[in-house]
Amino acid sequence: FYISEANEIHKMISSLGMEDYVSKKLTLSSVLEVGVETITDANIQTLRNLPWNFLKKLMVLNNTARNTHCTTSMSGDEETQVNLINFTDIFADIENDSNQYINPLDVVTTLFLSSDCLLQQQIMLKMSMCQFALPLLLPDYRNDNCILLQWALREIVKKWRPQSLESCKGFKEENLAVTSMPTISFVRLGNCMLSKSKLLNDVLSLQQQNNFFIHHNMQCGNVPRTISDGLVEICWYLPCGKKNLDAFPEALAITNLRGDAQSKSIQFEFVRKISTAVFVFVESIDKSTYKLLSSIDKSETQYFFILSSQNSKQKVTLDYLKKLAPNLQLEQKHLLRKSNQLNEANFVRKVQETIKDVLKSCSMKTNVEKMAVVARELGIKVDEDDEKCSQARKHAQEITSKIQDIVDYKKKVLPLQGNILKELAQLEKETHRLRKYGNKPIEEYKCDLENKIMKLREKQNQYEPSEGILSFITALVDKSTEERHYFLKWMKFFLDTVARENLSDLRERYKTQYEDSQDHSKELTELDQKIADSSLGLEHFMREIGQIYEAESLLFNKDKLTDAQNQFVHLANVAADLMLEGYPLELINGDASHVPVRWVTDVLKQLKEKIRNNSRIRVITVLGVQSTGKSTLLNTMFGLQFAVSSGRCTRGAFMLLIKVKEDLRETLGCDFLMVIDTEGLKSPELVKLQDSNEHDNELATLVVGLSDITLINMAMENSAEMKNILQIVVHAFLRMTETGKKPNCQFAHQNVGDVSAHDQNMRDRKLLLEQLNEMTKAAAKMEKKDSYSKFSDVMEYDAEKDNWYIPGLWHGIPPMAPVNTGYSENVYELKKSLFGTLKEKKQSSLDILEFIEWVKSL
Ligand SMILES: *[C@@H]1O[C@H](CO)[C@@H](O)[C@H](O)[C@H]1NC(C)=O
Ligand SMILES: *[C@@H]1O[C@H](CO)[C@@H](O)[C@H](O)[C@H]1NC(C)=O
Ligand SMILES: *[C@@H]1O[C@H](CO)[C@@H](O)[C@H](O)[C@H]1NC(C)=O
Ligand SMILES: *[C@@H]1O[C@H](CO)[C@@H](O)[C@H](O)[C@H]1NC(C)=O
Repeated sequence: FYISEANEIHKMISSLGMEDYVSKKLTLSSVLEVGVETITDANIQTLRNLPWNFLKKLMVLNNTARNTHCTTSMSGDEETQVNLINFTDIFADIENDSNQYINPLDVVTTLFLSSDCLLQQQIMLKMSMCQFALPLLLPDYRNDNCILLQWALREIVKKWRPQSLESCKGFKEENLAVTSMPTISFVRLGNCMLSKSKLLNDVLSLQQQNNFFIHHNMQCGNVPRTISDGLVEICWYLPCGKKNLDAFPEALAITNLRGDAQSKSIQFEFVRKISTAVFVFVESIDKSTYKLLSSIDKSETQYFFILSSQNSKQKVTLDYLKKLAPNLQLEQKHLLRKSNQLNEANFVRKVQETIKDVLKSCSMKTNVEKMAVVARELGIKVDEDDEKCSQARKHAQEITSKIQDIVDYKKKVLPLQGNILKELAQLEKETHRLRKYGNKPIEEYKCDLENKIMKLREKQNQYEPSEGILSFITALVDKSTEERHYFLKWMKFFLDTVARENLSDLRERYKTQYEDSQDHSKELTELDQKIADSSLGLEHFMREIGQIYEAESLLFNKDKLTDAQNQFVHLANVAADLMLEGYPLELINGDASHVPVRWVTDVLKQLKEKIRNNSRIRVITVLGVQSTGKSTLLNTMFGLQFAVSSGRCTRGAFMLLIKVKEDLRETLGCDFLMVIDTEGLKSPELVKLQDSNEHDNELATLVVGLSDITLINMAMENSAEMKNILQIVVHAFLRMTETGKKPNCQFAHQNVGDVSAHDQNMRDRKLLLEQLNEMTKAAAKMEKKDSYSKFSDVMEYDAEKDNWYIPGLWHGIPPMAPVNTGYSENVYELKKSLFGTLKEKKQSSLDILEFIEWVKSL
C-alpha cells in the first residue's frame, strides 16, 4: 500500500518533469533569473510546464495561478481548454492522454517536494498574499508518511484587527506561525456529495468572495486518489475589525484534510489533536466508519457532523451517532443536516453560527509550533528538524536571545555604525567638498581631514569585535549555501520578532500623526528617529561587518594578516556569494549618509572573480518615498526581497543582482540586471527640519548616475510628497547632464483608482509634465544651467509612454482581501516595458569593473 503511494508520487513528479529536482532542489535564485519566458505571455500549458507556469504566475501574484488545465498537445494549436478537472484516473497513460487534467494541488505538492528552503518560503508567502490555502502536512514519498511544513510557513506576517481589541492599540501584527489561535478543521469520511472546499470558502467569506480552497465543479462521487490525498491545508481567518465585513470577530486557523480521512489515519489523528473543533463531512456511517470514530479518545475537541440528507442509510447512521454520543460528547447542535430544502446560503450561515459558538467558549489555542510538537508525537517528520536547519536556528537564537533593548544592543554590539560613523561620513564628504577650509592652505586642510579620518578609524579599530558579531561571522564563513540561507533566514525571523512590537506601534503612530495633522513636524521627526533607532535587521549586522572591514583594511598590513584579520578579508568573498544568491548589498548607509567604499569595491571585486567574463550589467534604479508600496512593487516585478514583510524602513540604497538567462543576454546586452533600491527620500516635513534636502539630492544623483532606467515610484495620495521627490530627481538629472548621459525615466503611479482609463489620466499627465518642466527651469537656474528648460532636455521621457498606472494591491479590505488582478497585470506590463527599454538602448551596458571604478569615485 505504502509502496504504491510512493510510486504514485514519483510518477506524478516525473510526469510533471520535476524528477531532476527531487534530490537537487530547485532554488529561489534560479527561479528569479529572467529569461525570454519571463516576458512572454503566450504559454500553452503542457503537463511538463505546469509547475513552471504556476511558479511564474505566483511570483507576479496572478490570482489564477492555480488554474492547471492543459491544452491538448494532440490537437495542435487548437486551444481546447476545459476548466473541469477530470479525475478519471489521471495516471492512466498520462503521457499520451490528450485529456491532460491535473489536480492543481498535485502541482503544488510536487513543487514543495522539489524546492529548496528559500523557495518554499517564497511560494508560501505569495500563496498567502493571493489568499490561497497553504499546505501544512504534505504527503512525502521519502518516508512513506507525511511531513509538516513549519519552516516554509515561517515568513508569513499579517496585520489584523480583532473586534475584542478595539479598546487597546487596535490592531495586531504578528507572524502567523507563532500566533496562537483556535483551530477548526474539516475532514471527510467516505464519499460525500457535498463539496467540503466550496462550503469552506463560503463560510470564510462574508462580503468578499474568496477561494481559499480549490474545489472542482464536479460531484465528488467516485474520486480516484491523487497524490494530494492526505494533504492537510491551512488558512487563517483574520478579521478587519468591522462588524459588517467580518465573518468572525476573532482570528482563527482553518485546516482542511484532503481525501478520505478513513484511509489517512495519521493525518486524521493529527487534525483531531490540533483542533478545537472538527467538522466531519459524512454521507452515512457504516460499520467501519463507526469503528474508526469510536476509537477516538474523549478530549476537549468538539465534533460536528455535517450530514447530507438524501440517503437510505439515515437510520443506521443516526443509530451509530447515538452510540458515539457519550464519547464524542455529541448533542443535537453537533449534527448539521444539509437537507435539500435548506438553501445553500442558510446552511452556510448555520455553519458560521456554529463556529462562532465554538469560538465563544474556546480555551484551546494553538499555533504551527505547537502543531509541530503534536506531529512529532505521531511520528510525522517536521521540516525544521533537518540537521542544518536546526543548527542554524540554534546559532541565530544564541545571538538574538541576548537582545533585550534594541537601542542598547546596537550601542554595545554594533558600535562602529553609531556616532563615529556619522562623524566619519561628514569628514569624508568634506574631503570632496572642501567647503570649510577657511584661511588654511588647501593641502594642509586636506591633510587635517585625512588625519581626523584616520583617528576615527583607529578608534573604530580599538573596539574588540563583540561576541554577537563574531558569532554572526562564524555562521557565515566556510558554510554551505544552504547553511547560510537557513542561518540568515532564522536571524531575520528572530530579529523581526524582537523588533516588531515596538516598530509596528511606532509606524502606526507615525501614520496617524501624518494623517491627522497639518503641521506636527516635530513629532514626526522624533517618531522617524525612534523608528530608525528601534530597527534591527540583517543589514545592521552586515553594515557592522563592512565597517570592521573598512577600519581593518585601512590600517593593517596586507602582507601580514593575523587569523582574525584573514577571516575578515574572507568576508568580502562571502558577501559576494550572498549577492549572487540574491541578497542585497548596502551601497549607501542612509542613517549615517555614508558609502562604505572599500567594503563595497572589494565585495564587487570578489564578485568579478566569480562571474569572470559574464559581468556585463545594466542598472535599474528605483526612487520613491517611504511606504508607497515600492518594496511590494519590486518584489512583484523581480522577486526582490527587501524589507517587505517586516516593514522596516531602512534608509539608503541597496543593490541587488538578478541573473539574466542565456536566452535573453543578447537581447538585453547584459549578464545581470542590477536593481538599486533607494529608501530615504524623506517626506517634506522631515526635509524642512533636518536640512536633509542637500543630502537627499546627492543620494539621488549618485544612484541615478549609472542607471539605464530610473523608475520613480509615486503614490497619488500625496502631492506634496510627490513634488518633493520630483524636485530632487530633477536636480539629480540636471547634474547628470555633465556626463553627457541622458537616462531614461519612468513613473509608476500607485494606488490609482481607475486604471483602465489611461485617457482619464491624461489631464494628470499634462499637469505632471508642466510641473516637471517648471521644476527643470527652476533647478536649471539654481544650478546655473539655463540652457535646460524642459524636463525632456535632461531626461529621456515621453509623457504618453512613460507613465504607468498601478491600482491598489488589494481587491477589497485587508487582511482577507486577495490581490487585485489589475495590480498584477499592470506591474507585468511595466516590467515588460522596462525590458523593452533596455533592449532599445543595449549599447550602454557596463562591466562590473567600470561599476567598481564608479563606486570608488564616490
Ligand atoms: C473524463 O475522462 C474519461 C476517460 O478519458 C471520459 O470517459 C469522461 O467522459 C471524461 N469526463 C469528463 C467530464 O470530461
Ligand atoms: C520597546 O520600547 C520600550 C520603551 O521605549 C523599551 O523599554 C523596550 O526595550 C523596547 N523593546 C525593544 C525590544 O527594544
Ligand atoms: C574572457 O574574455 C577575454 C577577453 O575578451 C578572453 O581572452 C578570455 O578567453 C575569456 N575567458 C573566458 C573564460 O571566456
Ligand atoms: C494571469 O493568468 C491568466 C491566465 O493564465 C492570464 O491570462 C493573464 O494574462 C495572467 N496575468 C498576468 C499579469 O500574468
